[in-house]
Amino acid sequence: MAHLFDSLSLRSVRLKNRIGVSPMCMYSSQDGFANDFHVVHSGTRSVGGVGLFMTEATAVAATGRITPYDMGIWKDEHVEPLARVVRAIKAGGAVAGIQLAHAGRKASVDRPWGPTANQPLDWSRDGWPVVAPSAIPSTEKSPTPHALNAAEIQAVQAAFVSATQRALAAGYELIEIHGAHGYLAHSFLSPISNSRTDNYGGPFEGRVRFLIETIVKVRAGMPDDVPLAVRLSCTDWTPGGWTPEDSVALSKLLKVVGVDLVDCSSGGNVQSAKIPVAPGFQVPFAEKIRKEADLATAAVGLITDAAQANTIITSGKADMVLLAREMLRNPYFAFQAARSLGKPNAVHLPQQYERAE
Ligand SMILES: Cc1cc2nc3c(=O)[nH]c(=O)nc-3n(C[C@H](O)[C@H](O)[C@H](O)COP(=O)(O)O)c2cc1C
Repeated sequence: MAHLFDSLSLRSVRLKNRIGVSPMCMYSSQDGFANDFHVVHSGTRSVGGVGLFMTEATAVAATGRITPYDMGIWKDEHVEPLARVVRAIKAGGAVAGIQLAHAGRKASVDRPWGPTANQPLDWSRDGWPVVAPSAIPSTEKSPTPHALNAAEIQAVQAAFVSATQRALAAGYELIEIHGAHGYLAHSFLSPISNSRTDNYGGPFEGRVRFLIETIVKVRAGMPDDVPLAVRLSCTDWTPGGWTPEDSVALSKLLKVVGVDLVDCSSGGNVQSAKIPVAPGFQVPFAEKIRKEADLATAAVGLITDAAQANTIITSGKADMVLLAREMLRNPYFAFQAARSLGKPNAVHLPQQYERAE
């Protein structure tokens, strides 16, 4: 079995170890643009020794942003500032990945700080109309979304394709499509948020159509050697919702259409869901998909400790781990983990920092 500090190859991309920074919105962009903060944030974590840095949910359309401060990639002008972020990641020694996203019915809220934190924005001022598979609001306070028609669905899919081209132009080496957390793709998957009667709704085959078609179109525009990942919410944690078995069935289809890694998260589509949050609570989904769909997986969620992370890999539960909040607290997690696992040579600080090793 592999070790946390063994490399992982996905198509032609080689991660030097199996630790990645999970995508995290920084809510620090204006008009979608990456800026100095993103360069510092990404570079610092990459210097800390991770194999992969995944840039935050980056909106494929202005109306697909969660907040007005989200990172965006809906116009060519976004490419060069993102290329700076990519250069910072690569200079730090990590592989640069990016998560492409459309927030669907969870769009148009304020960022998670300030007097109106997370509250729906006013359409007449700074908000915008939101879209979804069906006219079912995300929460009691959320606006009723516009149900996308077939032409509008194709326009969103085209936006994912263009965004992928821009991400590649910026130098990203791995693309992840956000299919989790109640955002647009997930809301198509789940019967709780998708009550369509056309071929994008109804049975499993209909509800997965939006994501599968999007992947087919995105993959067709990507070089063969660039890996493609998808983040799934592997369960809605709600009776009548999306299930782990659905995630396995979907992953088998994703494998056929050229997905290389499923990033196994959960929840986000049903605000009242009771989620049994505990260390490593989502790891069983990564294990299930890895074994039953025979596809590489990333485990994420309350992974905070080197031994815990290594056991996930050595026991064959996932191919890599993604850490989010721990990476905010400790950008040097990977460097320190290598030492605590008795592999001091697995992670070197940059030469400039050599005297600290
Ligand atoms: C500040 C913050 C921003 C996040 N933004 C995103 C995001 O852009 N895309 C995403 O899929 N998940 C996002 N998440 C979820 C994380 O990627 C991760 O799945 C979750 O925090 C669980 O991992 P952890 O326990 O290591 O923090 C975010 C989490 C945090 C804390």
